[in-house]
Amino acid sequence: MCGIIGINSNKPVATTIINSLKKLEYRGYDSAGIATLYNGLINEVKSEGRVENLEKNSIAQNMEGTIGIGHVRWATHGLPNSINAHPHSSQNVSVVHNGIIENSTILKKFLIGKGHVFKSQTDTEVIAHLITENLKTENIINSIKKTLKSLHGSFALGIVFKDHPDFIVGARRGSPLAVGYGPNENYLGSDSYALKSMTNKITYLNDGEFCVIKRNNVDFFSEEGTRINKKVLVLSSTEEKYDKGDYKHFMAKEIEEQPITISNGINEYIDMSNRDINIYNFPWKKKEISSITLIGCGTAYHSCLMAKYWFEKLTNLDVNIDIASEFRYRKNRFKQDNLYIFVSQSGETADTYAALDLCKNNNVKTCAVVNVVESSIARDSNFVLPIHCGVEIGVASTKAFLGQILILYILALKFALWRKEIEKKDFDKKLSELKTLPKLLEKTLLVDNKIQTIADTFNEAKGSMFLGRGFSYPIALEGALKLKELSYIHAEGYPAGEMKHGPLALIEEGMPVVVLAPRDSYYKKTISNMQEVIARGAKVLLITNKSKDEVISENIWKKIEVESTNEDLLPFLLTIPLQKLAYYSALKKGYDIDKPRNLAKSVTVE
Ligand code: G6P
Repeated sequence: MCGIIGINSNKPVATTIINSLKKLEYRGYDSAGIATLYNGLINEVKSEGRVENLEKNSIAQNMEGTIGIGHVRWATHGLPNSINAHPHSSQNVSVVHNGIIENSTILKKFLIGKGHVFKSQTDTEVIAHLITENLKTENIINSIKKTLKSLHGSFALGIVFKDHPDFIVGARRGSPLAVGYGPNENYLGSDSYALKSMTNKITYLNDGEFCVIKRNNVDFFSEEGTRINKKVLVLSSTEEKYDKGDYKHFMAKEIEEQPITISNGINEYIDMSNRDINIYNFPWKKKEISSITLIGCGTAYHSCLMAKYWFEKLTNLDVNIDIASEFRYRKNRFKQDNLYIFVSQSGETADTYAALDLCKNNNVKTCAVVNVVESSIARDSNFVLPIHCGVEIGVASTKAFLGQILILYILALKFALWRKEIEKKDFDKKLSELKTLPKLLEKTLLVDNKIQTIADTFNEAKGSMFLGRGFSYPIALEGALKLKELSYIHAEGYPAGEMKHGPLALIEEGMPVVVLAPRDSYYKKTISNMQEVIARGAKVLLITNKSKDEVISENIWKKIEVESTNEDLLPFLLTIPLQKLAYYSALKKGYDIDKPRNLAKSVTVE
């Protein structure tokens, strides 16, 4: 989604801004732009599509100026073209913006009435003109304060002023924003990852705050315009190196590295010598928690659903799950003995953050399961469980999904032990089995060739279905989501037992249907459902685990067998062929696998 970079330096900034924008490409975007101040002018270059297009632009190549702002845009208001790309400038102010200004239409009308002329269809352009309007009567700080007060909605802003070429203003409400510190230069970024190649010294703005970034110091202000002091955090490393290596796409690499990332997660949390799970400094006593609510979006929501099955099996806790965009607007009954768990790869998803904020305001217990430990969700939760997957670039989440469900499974086991709801010998056995998971994943990853040919059939079909029961149901949803995200093929995930209540009507001759039927406690029931779709002409791809017993069913179109393990862990293995199916299907269609159309990695607007 949208990303912001700002640099105030003593040397030209255009190239560094463009290079930093490349770091934000993983978020998903459709256009890019940059503005610098030079010789009393605002110089602006924008282009549709990739940052590469901006980089190739000869004006951008020769751009001067030691202060500037850059942006990658994911369209919300107006088409994804170069006119609507950011920055947006009035005669004296240039703005980059993440978020949505909900009252932009009213503000625009007011500003047109005052003689302002608009070039784009965006909500952002009103911010530049509103500041210009306020500057007629106010000084810089007051005009910013006044402008921010008039804006409804969410924003992270970077602003430069033609007549003040010595500072950048940053402001935050809802969308994250970070300030970075370097030698004789300071920075603004929509996340610390974008700034990591330049600095590991960071200050995060809180909601309502704004800042004035000069070359050698940064002043911070509260919503009311009062000067405030903020902490400088020193992040662990200056930059985590992450490239595609020999892989064609980040997604392919991220799928293949899952045995390693899962092994990292296991090593972080499991202490085999003491046969225990290390969750240090957990802030609550076990008696203080009698129920759990898990909240997330997209793939992270599927992780929540997966966790529900494990928590309910292993513990007696009541477990609810929720989609963040629904939770945040419902009338919730907040309970003091409930633990609210927020699952998010990026830790910046706007809806998940808003749900967390709601919980914070109601003083309930909050825990984050995140990949990015410096993220807003991690920072603002009472307790954090990192998934230790490393950077994930592919927009469609793969290794972070397995990382999330791993940590949630470990947490369920720990709760079961704390609450004495699992026998110690069974707990020990489960830990030993968990230890073997990376090896099993490694073997399951060898299913490659078979899936490549299967992908063709999915590509030719009008639509497809993914069915599973019990532990396999969340995986069926995730498999269908992966296929639609990457291959733009209609794919529905369904609980196999629900087919008779409507979706069976969709089945027609030759329709590809994935049936997840591992040999678990649901196996026989799922096989019956499978026969019902085969009888109606579906081409069934059965995904099960290796067993000496043959599957008793005729007319199965294709069968893939993953490795065998205990039923709790089979969901990890079933996920692999589904990730690969989506990958090869998109590869054969020639689609942009790491950046699927219309989607973004970090969804920072609701
Ligand atoms: C976007 C991504 C998905 C992700 C979802 C939630 O839609 O494309 O892959 O599952 O956001 O993101 P989060 O960072 O909160 O896990």
